Amino acid sequence: MKKDIDWTSLGFGYIKTDYRYVSNFVNGNWDEGKITETENITLNESACVLQYAQTGFEGLKAYETANGRIVCFRPDLNAQRMVESAKRLEMPPFPEDRFIDAVKTVVKKNIEYVPPYGSGATLYIRPFMFGSNPVMGVKPANEYQFRIFTSPVGPYFKGGAKPITLRIPDFDRAAPRGTGHVKAGLNYAMSLHAIVDAHKQGYNENMYLDSGTRTKIEETGGANIIFVSKDNKVITPKSNSILPSITRRSLMYVAENYLGLKTEQREIYKEELEDMKECALCGTAAVLSPVGKVVDHDKEIKFPSGMEKPGEITQKLYDTLTGIQMGKIEAPEGWIVEIA
Ligand code: PLP
Ligand code: COI
Repeated sequence: MKKDIDWTSLGFGYIKTDYRYVSNFVNGNWDEGKITETENITLNESACVLQYAQTGFEGLKAYETANGRIVCFRPDLNAQRMVESAKRLEMPPFPEDRFIDAVKTVVKKNIEYVPPYGSGATLYIRPFMFGSNPVMGVKPANEYQFRIFTSPVGPYFKGGAKPITLRIPDFDRAAPRGTGHVKAGLNYAMSLHAIVDAHKQGYNENMYLDSGTRTKIEETGGANIIFVSKDNKVITPKSNSILPSITRRSLMYVAENYLGLKTEQREIYKEELEDMKECALCGTAAVLSPVGKVVDHDKEIKFPSGMEKPGEITQKLYDTLTGIQMGKIEAPEGWIVEIA
């Protein structure tokens, strides 16, 4: 039985579900892990996560498909990326096979919260890990907690398919040899002031530049970016300080192998914005959110696709990707993992 929730009016927010998964790392080992009902965590005041932000996270979704199965999308890639984040933050990696098992277990336990097929909502899954014991000097913790909770969510940007406006901020998101390529909590702390400021000025999000030269497009605070050029190529920025989005990697594959389009991953200079026909943000939360306009200080770049609806190729990419996720279109081998 599904929970009594108005699925179609959900935004992207936290709703407490009944169960979460917890495993603790003590004495050099991850314990066997368990499901718990308690959503609150009690920590020492000097826990490494509280003082020095030693934490990383992941995000993926569970979907109900057209024929009533519950599935998730490429969890192996989230498990791998979480290992990379853990290594960069000097945390003990959580084993990939255990990550996938834990995701399946938590979703099964919260199955009544998986939004129904066709509602436009999904069950967001949030794995995360943090240094839990007290430290004073700047050094990694030696005890950690790995957790996964879930929350039913609707669209990340209000208005769903309505194109949004980005601005090029004077703030940076990631340093050239920093942590931009992993999912460290600190990257998001760094972006909070910039997003609050962007919203105050009437923009939906920030389009960050590379902080080394401030000439090239990187990504937004919570999503990668794809462009469609006037000759219908799907182009995405190449940089070692952006997060390797699973959605973006999947979309590039879809563009080439399902839609027969040419794709490119390369450095994209800010001046090239004017040569692009379409632009969209991609990520687990954002799915594929069309961008209608970018404001770079006193200059406005309006994409030919306009502010009313997604561009034609953006729409095709969206339909194909979500079709694969919802079981309407055959998926490449291994992309869809059945949970129930
Ligand atoms: N970039 C950033 C900074 C993100 O936080 C996210 C979200 O996970 C993404 C990109 C998109 O990544 P994915 O498609 O793997 O969700
Ligand atoms: C995601 O897409 O899963 C994200 O993590 C983006 C944002 C909510 C931080």
